[in-house]
Amino acid sequence: MNGAPVLKVEGLTTRFRTGYGIVTAVDGVSFSVGRGETLGLVGESGSGKSVTALSILRLVSKPGRIESGTVELNGVDLLKLDEEQMRQRRSTQAALVFQNPMTALNPVFTIGWQLRETLKAHGRGEAGSAAILKALSDVGMPDPERQAASFPHQMSGGMRQRVVIAMGMLNDPQLLIADEPTTALDVTIQAQVLDLMKRLTHDHGTALLLITHNMGVIARMCDRVAVMYAGEIVEEAPVDELFANARHPYTMGLLRSIPRVDQPRGQLPTLPGAPPDMSALPAGCRFRERCPLAQERCQTHPELTAVAPAHTARCWVAQDAARESAAAGMRDDGPGRPQEPEHAV
Ligand SMILES: Nc1ncnc2c1ncn2[C@@H]1O[C@H](COP(=O)(O)OP(=O)(O)OP(=O)(O)O)[C@@H](O)[C@H]1O
Ligand SMILES: [Mg+2]
Repeated sequence: MNGAPVLKVEGLTTRFRTGYGIVTAVDGVSFSVGRGETLGLVGESGSGKSVTALSILRLVSKPGRIESGTVELNGVDLLKLDEEQMRQRRSTQAALVFQNPMTALNPVFTIGWQLRETLKAHGRGEAGSAAILKALSDVGMPDPERQAASFPHQMSGGMRQRVVIAMGMLNDPQLLIADEPTTALDVTIQAQVLDLMKRLTHDHGTALLLITHNMGVIARMCDRVAVMYAGEIVEEAPVDELFANARHPYTMGLLRSIPRVDQPRGQLPTLPGAPPDMSALPAGCRFRERCPLAQERCQTHPELTAVAPAHTARCWVAQDAARESAAAGMRDDGPGRPQEPEHAV
């Protein structure tokens, strides 16, 4: 990452006080995203990805509450702003694209009208039709004038998602958070929309936090990846490093579950077991019950610590392995030296 991060989240914790107990949806989450950088946030359903996104933009609604942490956008802690200051930031500096475009689009107004409202809300009403048509053509809309006059229901799902991305990028935000932006689309359109987001954020230097449970999407889009499990980040690394050298058994499981074209449909591997109940989290490692490498000491909760340069993992076994390989490296005087016997380590 070059320079100061655009987004810096530290120790973010969000809980829901429900009739069946306190759900810790996001638990001490820390990460940062730089200018022009794409950080992928990946994890199974219920791991806390969307609540992380909503917490960053302070859109968590009751019974949810951000309990602690800081969320710095360009050095300003959003959690300390009043609601009006936050509203301004939301419209000018940070935008959110959801999975379902219909949650962001109003069915009774034309696309053009809605984009104009977005401009006005940001004090850019004077930019007018030219800005709207440019935004629509930037997201690859054929015949932007005709599309601007259309209603959402007159468009395909892929076109609607393009409109939502155009809306998100309309005021050139420094941060774009995209929560499963392409899950509802078919595979070809999905690839087109992802490539489009990649191009736009690259051209504009936008920091992108991309939420998905699809490792294929991560591989296509991201510079770095943070893996979430049961409300926590359990591993973070540059994308190539993560794919070549995943250290957390949960990440390894996710990587094995990437759909492959040569696998018959419906027979994709899934991780055995289920994540813990978020209202009754176990002490110790939260992945312990499902982990093939679990040991006695996994009953103590591991911290997220470095296992390689720019690579962290929340796993005792991975941390031991990293220490052992660092020690072996230090003993290694150069090529040709025979390996020491294991018992000497
Ligand atoms: N309004 C709510 N009330 C109670 N619990 C909630 C609420 N919203 C979310 N949660 C809980 O917070 C946890 C995290 O949910 P979140 O929506 O962030 O998961 P996710 O990783 O985005 O999953 P998915 O991949 O399915 O979108 C879950 O256990 C969920 O049940
Ligand atoms: Mg979600």
